[in-house]
Amino acid sequence: MSGPSIRRVSDWNADGLAALAAEHDTPLYVQDLDRVRENCERLRGAFPDADVRYAVKAHTGQAVLRAVREAGLDAECASAGELDRALAAGFGGDRLHYTAVNPPARDLDYVGGVAEAEPALTVTVGAVDTFDRLAERGYDGRVCVRVNPGVGAGHHEKVRTGGAAKFGIPSDRAAAVAREATERFDVVGIHAHAGSGIDPEQLDSHREMVARMGDLVRELTDPDGDDAVPLDLEYVDVGGGFGVPYEEDEPPLDLSAVAAATREAVAPLPAGVDLAIEPGRYVVADAGVLLTRVNTVKQTPEERVVGVDAGMTDLLRPAMYDAYHPILNLGGAADALSPDERQATPVTVAGPICETGDTLCRNRALADPARGDLLAVGIAGAYGYEMASQYNSRPRPAEVALDDGTATVVRRRETLADLTTVEREAETPAGPTGGDR
Ligand code: LLP
Repeated sequence: MSGPSIRRVSDWNADGLAALAAEHDTPLYVQDLDRVRENCERLRGAFPDADVRYAVKAHTGQAVLRAVREAGLDAECASAGELDRALAAGFGGDRLHYTAVNPPARDLDYVGGVAEAEPALTVTVGAVDTFDRLAERGYDGRVCVRVNPGVGAGHHEKVRTGGAAKFGIPSDRAAAVAREATERFDVVGIHAHAGSGIDPEQLDSHREMVARMGDLVRELTDPDGDDAVPLDLEYVDVGGGFGVPYEEDEPPLDLSAVAAATREAVAPLPAGVDLAIEPGRYVVADAGVLLTRVNTVKQTPEERVVGVDAGMTDLLRPAMYDAYHPILNLGGAADALSPDERQATPVTVAGPICETGDTLCRNRALADPARGDLLAVGIAGAYGYEMASQYNSRPRPAEVALDDGTATVVRRRETLADLTTVEREAETPAGPTGGDR
């Protein structure tokens, strides 16, 4: 049941989506757990001998995390909050990987506490002084060294991590740092992540990064190396970043070709060292759509502006990365033709936020939208709800999970009262905020 390699927005059941929007109102995220399971299965099928770790940041909903856990993937967490959510979804320490990026003290305190209860947890470290900060907290457990591989890839400069100095230990220092770390910790792996949204054309950068990691793991584990003691590493983690086709005519990534290229580039792996990958987007992106209702249609001299009730606070990617998301008009406007019978018209779909950048697309041909129509914004399951905010004092949307055809509200729509909760609670310090993590 690994399914097709991509689910396009037009593959969703339009009547089913319209019924969900009618029942739960818009904007509404819909996340299909069956599709999440199919994506997990395809990844495990393409990388049968690798450890597959879901990068939780793409979608942290409990229902998604539980589905991913049951599908056999581990969890890669980027913060105390993500770790907390993964624990709540039932991941045991042996399946949890915490990647520390300039970690706040509060996060390290929390992780130290988790490690006491779950000593099989692994902490991936990307700066030398993070080791000191862990040691100060009495941590002497499993660590992985994050390397800056010096080569990046990804759909936008803002998501290329490989060459960005913020991430990882410079590759020329990584071997020495890993060896030094063995004095205080159990060094179990090395890690690198080139970036996010790698498309077929960027496979060369991915291959180059993986090859560098292969060289490093061989150097570190070499029993005949210069007088250094070989490290007993369990894995080399080459990160995530597998892209999905957002544009309707873009071909899907050939996952088995990526897997073959990865295995070939990292080979030969020393005995006992496994390959690990950390996909986020690939697991959840095409399992989600965002439903939004047309509330205003305005013809200006320059363009036709279609105002909808979802904006950059609900789906930030178009405003932040100029990202393309497919949009399908599902119709529903009173007295209008069905969308199939309407003329394809170039429109700009704009949200309700007071920012010029608050558009979901510009001058794109859609079946001419009318007030009351429902639009489905596709491939919205990764970094969609996760990057939502309350800017302009807009409550965040609701989310429904589909599981074997059954729809359940998994995130209720926020209310206006939710917007002021933290202010009201600050006025009464003994209020329910309680703990400080
Ligand atoms: N591992 C590490 C260490 C990462 O930093 C990331 C993503 C991943 C794995 C997963 O990458 P993926 O397979 O999802 O591409 N908000 C951006 C994406 C930021 C990704 C950050 N790190 C977007 O919406 O495109």
